[in-house]
Amino acid sequence: MKLTMVGAGYVGLVTAACFAEMGNEVICVDADAAKIKGLEEGRLPIYEPGLEDYVKRNYKEKRLFFTTDLAAAVQKSLIIFIAVGTPQDKDGSADLSAVLAVGREIGKHINGYKVIVEKSTVPVGTAQKVRRVIQKELAARGVEFEFDVVSNPEFLKEGTALDDFMKPDRIVVGCDDVRTAELMKELYAPFVRTHHPIIVMDVVSAELTKYAANAFLATKISFINEIANICARTGADIAMVRRGIGSDPRIGNLFLFPGVGYGGSCFPKDMQALIHTARSLNYTPRLLEAAEAINQDQRENFVGLVRRFFGDELKGRTLAVWGLAFKPGTDDVREAPALTVISRLLERGAVIQAYDPQAMGSTREALGEVAGLSYADSSYEALEGAEALIINTEWTMFREPDFERMKSLMRQPVIFDGRNLYNPVKLAKLGFQYFYIGQKID
Ligand SMILES: NC(=O)c1ccc[n+]([C@@H]2O[C@H](COP(=O)([O-])OP(=O)(O)OC[C@H]3O[C@@H](n4cnc5c(N)ncnc54)[C@H](O)[C@@H]3O)[C@@H](O)[C@H]2O)c1
Repeated sequence: MKLTMVGAGYVGLVTAACFAEMGNEVICVDADAAKIKGLEEGRLPIYEPGLEDYVKRNYKEKRLFFTTDLAAAVQKSLIIFIAVGTPQDKDGSADLSAVLAVGREIGKHINGYKVIVEKSTVPVGTAQKVRRVIQKELAARGVEFEFDVVSNPEFLKEGTALDDFMKPDRIVVGCDDVRTAELMKELYAPFVRTHHPIIVMDVVSAELTKYAANAFLATKISFINEIANICARTGADIAMVRRGIGSDPRIGNLFLFPGVGYGGSCFPKDMQALIHTARSLNYTPRLLEAAEAINQDQRENFVGLVRRFFGDELKGRTLAVWGLAFKPGTDDVREAPALTVISRLLERGAVIQAYDPQAMGSTREALGEVAGLSYADSSYEALEGAEALIINTEWTMFREPDFERMKSLMRQPVIFDGRNLYNPVKLAKLGFQYFYIGQKID
């Protein structure tokens, strides 16, 4: 099929490359000319394992194209995906300006029957808004073309995005038209050969499904963090409690790790957007608000551990930081807990030596050059002369480090672990002072 993907970010680029991999012809459009030029020259704007191969191969074999020319792409395609950003607006709602701007451009240029697919995460009612802006442009042009607006939320996870897209647990298609639903099923058929479902529903339910999924997962993280905080006050071992409850299939072990909280470009903004939607409909979403509050506190409490240890005297102290990305496998630092942690420590005069295998460039971009913050070439270099190590991201390379080497590099062997990577008994034997989430408070 001939497809257009508007937005060459984490979702758009992965989706475009995967559809091309299945033999479709995909034109990937982005408003950022530098990004498009880079892609044409084989430079990817993001880090995602395996993506570079997919993009380069499909580009070379002329199934994947890059352009800034949305008009031409729209005219050549039957299905147009909108995968632009929907960041958080000042009032917490999702900022739909990019989605609607793309809708308007589509309306200006469609030349026949088209299916417009919301891939971006957008609140209930957005398909209706997209439909209206397109209709308005068609009326202004004095033309009539049939088109349909479909909601097809994306559930891929950064870090495993290719696998998630190629072998999805499910595909949700929100569609009020039978013919369009069949077309979407045909497009996705190669991805569900192992019988994972394509769930067709009405547009509004599909729009809400994405928020409900993210809200549930975010709440699960805040739940285990709350239990960890209760463990800290009771002396219960959060690792054992986690295992004890996770083995119940109704609860499950996945996504049940205590830590410094969730971040990223999705959970925080999607929670805020869902809270905003509910509140605007006169419903107070108490559970979601509590999950968000716990998540914010979690970052501050983690910084509190460091502050307490040093008697709040952080000025001039060298601290090593491992992990900047909001999770392993990505260079994405949007809403990353690490950025909050670092900012708080810098505010108090600490000197930070940070290391992340992928996200140092994006952190530099996000924070700019900041006095007191430097980036190390390796995880061990970050430790040189440090009075403590602070871990924010559970990259696999941090799981089994050479503790003796760490001790020899650090001024004192102290670790604040925001991801509970190590065995406290082992660390104590090795001579480390080890602080982690859910540890008994004296
Ligand atoms: N990142 C994820 O893991 C993930 C997962 C599922 C859903 N989502 C949702 O998908 C959407 C996109 O997220 P992302 O992380 O890929 O964002 P992103 O910021 O990485 O990419 C968005 C891209 O859209 C481009 N763009 C913005 N306005 C444009 C316009 N008017 N015309 C053409 N291009 C334009 C930007 O230049 C950018 O390249 C969001 O709604 C997000 O919530 C993201």
